[in-house]
Amino acid sequence: MIRFSLLLLLPALLIAQTPPPPAEYQGRIIARTMHWEAASWLIRHKRDQEEATLLMREQLKLMPGMSVCDMGSGNGYHTLPIAEAVGKEGKVYAVEVQPEMIEMLHQRAEGKGLTNIVSIIGEMDDPKLPPASCDMILLVDVYHEFSYPEPMLAGMKKALKPDGVIVMVEFRAEDDSVPIKPEHKMTKAQIKKEYLSNGFKLVREFDGLPWQHMMFFGAEKPGE
Ligand SMILES: C[S@@+](CC[C@H](N)C(=O)[O-])C[C@H]1O[C@@H](n2cnc3c(N)ncnc32)[C@H](O)[C@@H]1O
Repeated sequence: MIRFSLLLLLPALLIAQTPPPPAEYQGRIIARTMHWEAASWLIRHKRDQEEATLLMREQLKLMPGMSVCDMGSGNGYHTLPIAEAVGKEGKVYAVEVQPEMIEMLHQRAEGKGLTNIVSIIGEMDDPKLPPASCDMILLVDVYHEFSYPEPMLAGMKKALKPDGVIVMVEFRAEDDSVPIKPEHKMTKAQIKKEYLSNGFKLVREFDGLPWQHMMFFGAEKPGE
């Protein structure tokens, strides 16, 4: 009887022993992941204007045939126009940890007849992208939510083609007028600190967005 009860208790004990994700990284509080039930906020009417999203995507200089990852794609606000820009010869990897977001993204992509989106359900510490597969990995309002930044950065680095870039778009923590909770914002200095200490170099910046930083990072090559 006692043995039987212990067996029943085992899953609960195992869950209790799983360590909680870290709360902090390099002095920054890690934000909680945005829940899929709030996904309608990502496709709100005023987003184009508030974040100047067309201008942001112009800065990506997307070309037909490119292979782009929309990391933490959510319900595909940026994935769909990127898929249109890279065309049938190109590809967009939409990586998400919440399958419900990917389900919504698929429904939206079907409505537009897009067939060049490859969805990937990633792990919190592994983007599960194929090696050397991406010309660009875009993270819009995502990186600050990574529970495990270091393995995610290492996984993304492996997924970049030799001259590939990671594009970080994050709400500006230096600016109190940006109406976003503090843990969902980052300073430029913090972004640089975290990327440079993980083997990346800053290759370009665009400072023309109303609320966000836009910073381009490449992988440091041996000898640099
Ligand atoms: C605030 S939403 C932004 C969605 C989208 N990038 C956009 O701009 O509309 C952040 C998304 O990142 C996803 N996310 C958080 N951690 C992740 C990880 N380790 N790998 C992949 N996606 C992640 C969350 O599930 C959530 O959908």
